[in-house]
Amino acid sequence: MDCTSIANANVKNKTVLVRVDFNEPLDDKGRLVSDYRIRAAIPTISYLRKKNCRILLLTHLGRPKNREKRFRTAKLAARLSELIKTRVFHTTDCIGAHTLLEVQKLGPKDILMLENVRFYPEEKANDKLFAKQLSQLAQAYVNEAFSNCHRKHASMVGVPQFLPGLAGLRLIEELDVLGSLLNRPKRPFVALLGGAKVYSKIDVLKALLKSADKVLIGGAMLFTFVKAQGGSVGKSPVEDDKIDLARRLLQSYPGKIILAPDVVAAKDKNSRAVIVSSSAIPSTHAGFDVGPQTVELFSKSVKSSKTLFWNGPLGWYEVSKFSKATNQISRVIAKSKTFSVIGGGDSATAVHRLRLAKNIDFMSTGGGAALTLVAGLELPAVTALRRSKKIK
Ligand code: ADP
Ligand code: 3PG
Ligand code: MG
Repeated sequence: MDCTSIANANVKNKTVLVRVDFNEPLDDKGRLVSDYRIRAAIPTISYLRKKNCRILLLTHLGRPKNREKRFRTAKLAARLSELIKTRVFHTTDCIGAHTLLEVQKLGPKDILMLENVRFYPEEKANDKLFAKQLSQLAQAYVNEAFSNCHRKHASMVGVPQFLPGLAGLRLIEELDVLGSLLNRPKRPFVALLGGAKVYSKIDVLKALLKSADKVLIGGAMLFTFVKAQGGSVGKSPVEDDKIDLARRLLQSYPGKIILAPDVVAAKDKNSRAVIVSSSAIPSTHAGFDVGPQTVELFSKSVKSSKTLFWNGPLGWYEVSKFSKATNQISRVIAKSKTFSVIGGGDSATAVHRLRLAKNIDFMSTGGGAALTLVAGLELPAVTALRRSKKIK
């Protein structure tokens, strides 16, 4: 069963709780570094306004330990307001009597941004009572938070048990495009993986290896694989508890997993960098970017692919001297004729920074969620939406 889109449901005049994912990167002063995810939700917000809905926006921001000021959602409301040139109200809670009062003050087309849902630990714990409290604010639930659909949290999987659930316009598009990569990719289908979070990506990689023709590995996740092969990775980050799995994957898919052959290594970000083989990194050094030989090798694979999925920067791209490979490969992808899909907050940020997003066929809002879907694994929040009761 598919999710019902807001475009195919009677939402007119209803109060809708829209779970968005405005989890944008912040700088050290807590300012927004990007607004890509906010922009991606605008068509849904505009559609609901046209239908005279009262719109409650609910999101998480960061991984707060308590009600940290840095993670308040007021700045998200302000940015959205600038983008749509419409007032966006804001409240300092997301459940309870006070919030309900704020909701009751709204008129048709009004937008109210609720406070960070992760200020309540009940969100991550998928607490049923908390989900029920959230559901009491509205008559229908809209999931427009594709990038958080891999999380089994209360506002993602709990609320649609209490309210009729609908899919936002962007969610439908993400499921269509990324689903086509899973089900009918034009071959050769090449996946390029980098970034840092091996622990959350390696299981997905396991599934991805079944459908992709080639998986290219760079970024910090490279070193767990190199170590699994017996290479010396120096001080590079390694996830020791994933080495066995990495070894098994390398053995099961010989020739399919292509590890970056060379890296840019240094003692730290301020020391002189050297280019060395990725399996012979000096014990005093760590690999902070992949090297020129890798860029050449990976570029060839990109150019000869018909479908390309990229997640995770190839190096520590925030530091300019380690951003070379990520920038070069971004340019190669942007220029190539392959059907290119990029997922991941940091990968997307790297591409946006180079102003190349317009040359990419689909910039997913999701990182972990996009990987999960492309690998053919279940997105719990999408399942919850499918099971949700229909709107009247
Ligand atoms: P995405 O957000 O695209 O899914 P991740 O969050 O998994 O990607 O990883 C991005 C992070 O990985 C960036 O902060 C980047 O600097 C870091 N990174 C990639 N390669 C390296 C490396 N070799 N050493 C240190 N950090 C790295
Ligand atoms: C993301 O940025 O991938 C989503 O917003 C999920 O955030 P999380 O990794 O903190 O759960
Ligand atoms: Mg990231």
